[in-house]
Amino acid sequence: MGLPVVLLSHRAPVSFRREGGERTARRGAGGLVTALVGLAGQLDDAVWVAAASTEEDIAVSREHQGEDIPLVMDATPRIATAEEAEQGSGTPCLGIRLVDVEAKAHEDFYAVVANPLLWFVQHGLYGLSTAPVLGQREREAFEEGYVRVNEQFAEAVISEVQSRNGHALVMLHDYHFYLVAERVREKCPDAVITHFVHIPWPGPDAWRVLPKDMRERLLNGLLGNDVVAFHTERFARNFLLCAQELLGLTVDLAAMTVRVGGRVVSARTYPISIDVESLEELAQSPAVRERADRMEAQLCGEGRQFLLRVDRTDPSKNIVRGFLAFGLLLEQHPELIGKVTFLAFLQPSRLDVQEYIDYVGQIGAVVARINAKYTREGHGPIDLRLQEDFATAVAAYTVCDVLMVNSIADGMNLVAKEAVAVSRRDAVLALSESTGAYEELGAFAVTLHPFDVQQQADALYAALTMSEEERRGLSSAAARVVRENDVKKWLDVQLADVRALLEP
Ligand code: G6P
Repeated sequence: MGLPVVLLSHRAPVSFRREGGERTARRGAGGLVTALVGLAGQLDDAVWVAAASTEEDIAVSREHQGEDIPLVMDATPRIATAEEAEQGSGTPCLGIRLVDVEAKAHEDFYAVVANPLLWFVQHGLYGLSTAPVLGQREREAFEEGYVRVNEQFAEAVISEVQSRNGHALVMLHDYHFYLVAERVREKCPDAVITHFVHIPWPGPDAWRVLPKDMRERLLNGLLGNDVVAFHTERFARNFLLCAQELLGLTVDLAAMTVRVGGRVVSARTYPISIDVESLEELAQSPAVRERADRMEAQLCGEGRQFLLRVDRTDPSKNIVRGFLAFGLLLEQHPELIGKVTFLAFLQPSRLDVQEYIDYVGQIGAVVARINAKYTREGHGPIDLRLQEDFATAVAAYTVCDVLMVNSIADGMNLVAKEAVAVSRRDAVLALSESTGAYEELGAFAVTLHPFDVQQQADALYAALTMSEEERRGLSSAAARVVRENDVKKWLDVQLADVRALLEP
């Protein structure tokens, strides 16, 4: 791809820290970073714009005076030497530009508007007891935080595009930046602009929670793109229905386009995936195998089984109802008490947002209740670990019996794809019908209905008591789907579509 690429996401692909006087760079976890870092290897000229999120990020960004920072992106990323940046080092080199956002504006942007407001609206959490109230604080935070921060990032993107003579592919990501495309288009009319929304896009009624002017500004901002992309057809269709119902625009649901003035904006579907090869490498590394063997010895065999979940502590993940369903399972099938362990790796998330702090408290309370009721001979049925440890989570993927994903709503859910790709014991996926992943993997999973705890308990029972043959059939079919549609395909299809868009 000859065209330079300017990427934008809130989280950077690396974050810098100072450890023992030394500056270190850590590669960000998560599907998006893995997927997009892969791009760097394929492109001659790519820059990634993101927020400076640590003290050391800010120091690095000041040293480079807001200019691009050349990075060598291998297993342990580092800033490239001047020579490497000039000549290329054989390993993929990627420029990053870290934007230092003023603290109050960032808090309004991140902790009041993006999460929880937009996140809650888009995941159908608005109106539940954990949901925020939309008031003066939110309106102010929208203007002073969301709009301002979007302007600041748009300026950074514009300067990157302009330094490439105005010709670039701009790839914007997620709900933090719905107002960026419109501004970039104004200043850089020759750029091709795409925006990937990684979270669900609900239909018009859900958006009516937001004041009219706010939802119209968000939609109009996104319509500054050439392509708005989603993980499922349903989200893409909902987006067009919003343009039709909330803005009165003419949409073509067969062609999946909407007319905006003289332009046509396309809504496209590209289901994101994982880097199967590198996940398999990690799963087979001695350290991960050793952990997996230990877990297997402790939790499997002799009639024992283990159920796993791996999530951020996010209300959209439906963790509390998942534990309630597990409690019901033990109540209704007492023969499973002492035999089934529920291992829950929960990574504390967004603890600068009150709703998320409250949610961790609710999780703790329900786990304590169930463990108090069903602990036998020192064996508590739920092993809750509030930690971020990807290697241990991968070890657990390889040996668990059942992986539970019961999200209320989820753009994709890569945990489901990761677990089936590396399972060595034919793990059964118990998967919410409200995840993007369900569209690809639902046929090879036990379905969970996120609000129905009895149904979830029954489905977990079915998964745990399934015959070996049936398990193998489902697990291998799911793994095949993931292997055949890995993250490289996700990128290739998008780049091919952009090329088609550029053809006269
Ligand atoms: C989701 C979003 C990402 C976000 C991630 C972690 O996957 O789609 O944009 O970065 O959650 O959330 P955080 O608030 O920690 O960045």
